[in-house]
Amino acid sequence: MKRDSFGSRLGILAAAAGSAIGLGNIWKFPFITGQNGGAAFILVYLLCIALIGLPVMLSEFVLGRKTQANAAGAFKAIEQDKPWHLSGYIAIATAFIILSYYAMIAGWIFSYIGRAATGKLMTIAPEQLGDYFGSIIGSNVEPMVCTFLVVALTAFMVMSGVKDGIEKYSKILMPVLLVILVGLMIRSVTLDDASKGLEFLFKPDFSKLTTSGVLEALGHAFYSLSLGMGIILTYGSYINKKENILKLALQVTIADTLIALMAGIVIFPAVFAYGFKPDAGPGLIFITLPAVFQEMPFGALFETLFFLLVGIAALTSTISLLEVVVAFVTEQFNIARKKATILLALAIYLLSIPSTLSFGMWSGIKMFGGKTFFDLFDFVASNISLPLGGILVCIFVGWIWGTENAVKEITSNGLYVFKYNGLYDFIIKFLAPAAIIVIFLNSTGLLSTVLASDQLGSFVFAGVGALLFVGLVFISRRSRMKKANF
Ligand code: PHE
Repeated sequence: MKRDSFGSRLGILAAAAGSAIGLGNIWKFPFITGQNGGAAFILVYLLCIALIGLPVMLSEFVLGRKTQANAAGAFKAIEQDKPWHLSGYIAIATAFIILSYYAMIAGWIFSYIGRAATGKLMTIAPEQLGDYFGSIIGSNVEPMVCTFLVVALTAFMVMSGVKDGIEKYSKILMPVLLVILVGLMIRSVTLDDASKGLEFLFKPDFSKLTTSGVLEALGHAFYSLSLGMGIILTYGSYINKKENILKLALQVTIADTLIALMAGIVIFPAVFAYGFKPDAGPGLIFITLPAVFQEMPFGALFETLFFLLVGIAALTSTISLLEVVVAFVTEQFNIARKKATILLALAIYLLSIPSTLSFGMWSGIKMFGGKTFFDLFDFVASNISLPLGGILVCIFVGWIWGTENAVKEITSNGLYVFKYNGLYDFIIKFLAPAAIIVIFLNSTGLLSTVLASDQLGSFVFAGVGALLFVGLVFISRRSRMKKANF
């Protein structure tokens, strides 16, 4: 069976950026920025993206392209009798679980698109909006229908293949997304009191930054770039050998980051202009924003466009999550793409039901220290298997496959120039794995139980300092060795 591949450079970019740009950019990034005090948090986030996100993305891309295989097959092609492909299984399982509840949240967005378009959201009293949101997601049937819609649309786009499905739809959806985003941005920054929101976004106040904020920025960098789940790896496997991968990874990273910032520019000036608070958390777009739109002239129109934007962003991400699983199943078990897509979409939908009901009928069912099904899935996927998938990719590329081989693939065997060998080697072998371990210890709560919270900061900084030291020694030794060779 001939492997499918992307048809054009623009198509690859649209699909990969489409995967990266999602709820993480337009829903989560603004609300965690709001909770962590704004500009200073953003600066840390940018650093995490550049220093760790980009090199890891590059590694996933080249591992996929080198092996031309799915997320498990890629490890198999290189592992030599060691069970490294289990890392691929972890990545695929993570994508499967995350998709089940990511589709549910995208379903909430669909509910809101309808209510924005009919003007219904404009009629709810601002202080009632929180309860209103709760009643929608707790209503059992509607969220199940909307999740089904999201999964079905995703399956429809994935079914036709990489070039005729994923690429084709990404090339339509991403420009639409951009146009809506720019339109909304212009609306927001031309509001009377827009400057307060812009100041919040761009004038750093480091006293607002906390250690857990720093770690959250790091974790979010991974999530936002769709790393650690075999997604970028799978997309990499559809890219031809002559493509400049460094440039591509850079473009995807920049696009993802710009869109997150633009989403902030849409949301915060409006929030501040109408006197609302930026720190509402997950309810920011579902509860605060509808109140903001009620104050705005032609609010219903802008509101509809906003939720449409979020819906599109979510769909181009759900496509990539499903593709990881579909690529694996079609290749591993030799099943036709259409059949595999439909069966997997059904399975994912079934798995989404417990999450959906944990906001309604099953909200009383609690496990492992009070977690609902949704909490549990989210905890296992985001806090355990996602970091695990991420660290395994780094260790595999850094230590097993070897960064020299990765660099050969980055340069397309010498066709392009890559000048950062030492830095890349250090990041993939040491810095990224160490960073992921700290994220993991933090997000699972292990770090704070081991250390009293006032020691947390010093522990992290001591760790980072030690690492930088080791890194510098390592880089200088390498460059000395190189000189000795010549
Ligand atoms: N990167 C996507 C976002 O920002 C989320 C995502 C994570 C999608 C992992 C696919 C895989 O929303």
